[in-house]
Amino acid sequence: MSDYTAGRHFLQTPGPTNVPDRVLRAMDHNAINHRGPEFGALGRQVVARLRQVFQTEGIVGIFPASGTGAWEAALVNTLSAGDRVLISRTGQFAHLWELMALRHGLDVAALDTDWRRGADPAAIGALLRDDREHRIKAVCVVHSETSTSCMTDVAAVRAAIDGAGHPALLMVDAISSLACADFRHDEWGVDVTIAGSQKGLMVPPGLSFTAISDKALAAAKANKTHRSYWDWEPLVASNKTGFFPYTPAINLLYALNEALAMLLEEGLANVFARHDRYAEATRRAVRAWGLDLQCQDPRAYAPGVTAVRTPDGHSADKLRSVILENFNMSLGNGLGRIDDKVFRIGHMGDLGVLQLAGTLAGVEMGMRVAGVPHKAGGVQAAMNYLSGNN
Ligand SMILES: Cc1ncc(COP(=O)(O)O)c(C=O)c1O
Repeated sequence: MSDYTAGRHFLQTPGPTNVPDRVLRAMDHNAINHRGPEFGALGRQVVARLRQVFQTEGIVGIFPASGTGAWEAALVNTLSAGDRVLISRTGQFAHLWELMALRHGLDVAALDTDWRRGADPAAIGALLRDDREHRIKAVCVVHSETSTSCMTDVAAVRAAIDGAGHPALLMVDAISSLACADFRHDEWGVDVTIAGSQKGLMVPPGLSFTAISDKALAAAKANKTHRSYWDWEPLVASNKTGFFPYTPAINLLYALNEALAMLLEEGLANVFARHDRYAEATRRAVRAWGLDLQCQDPRAYAPGVTAVRTPDGHSADKLRSVILENFNMSLGNGLGRIDDKVFRIGHMGDLGVLQLAGTLAGVEMGMRVAGVPHKAGGVQAAMNYLSGNN
């Protein structure tokens, strides 16, 4: 066994994703005075660019935290212990929302799914119509459930809330969809959208983002729940000035500014189309291998990640470790109740066609080495599609 592995490691997890060289170079910067004019200009530019990606004219706050921090902020700013929240149990990340809500003393109305599709807007609407006293204060959904690779139709959830004539806030976890899939915070009437730096945004982990509607800001103003670091109020001021109330993650913000510039140069519509194309190529490979997709609703396929079920009796974790050892590639593991049954191919962020083809080749060769039964031809099916001969 050699101490050095030649060639680039393939980081094909659904976050963190590969950080482009341009972004790495932008981070390679001395610290600057975070109360000085250079930082203010950086902060304002980052917010202006983030607004384009969230498709909002409103507040986009930045916390130096992982996405989970933005969740906690969303809950403590808008809700108080005893408030009821509706959570659709679409997968592991929705499950974690629920656990956090329970820890904050919230009363959770949960809608179960089989983890193989997105949230059901009709079921959400029915539950809201039954809630005549409007005890439910917020509806929380995960746009792209990274654990299952299923999307929820956020516009349809908004329509269900409106159709029920219900005033609940709509809170969306867009951590693994932002900058991979079209996301329209304003047009879809989302009140709180949270995201993180380490997925479609192509920045190392450590920053989280929160887009906030006027209605959510008003709810936060009226809400008496104690909070300090997670308070949204300073974010509002910060959006105007570009300055933070504490020492910001300066170098991550340089990285983010460059990554946002790259996304806008490529054009958001092109970024989304690229992800859709990679996801389709990946699914074609999976089908040709004769394996099952975790997501069973074709309308809900995620553009940034594909969760694949290994045949019964074959460990997905073993397959991943064989692929890591033999082919120097990291894939995402199955989470929660699909632990060891699923492996996840991340195809989000800074990824070219040949990197995707190499990723799928690594999976196919890994299955051969690990003895996972499959048909040959998955990589070929993906290449046929990617080269236009589909
Ligand atoms: C959909 C989704 N929500 C929440 C999280 C948690 O975010 P973080 O790990 O940045 O706290 C993740 C992380 O993978 C995620 O994919």
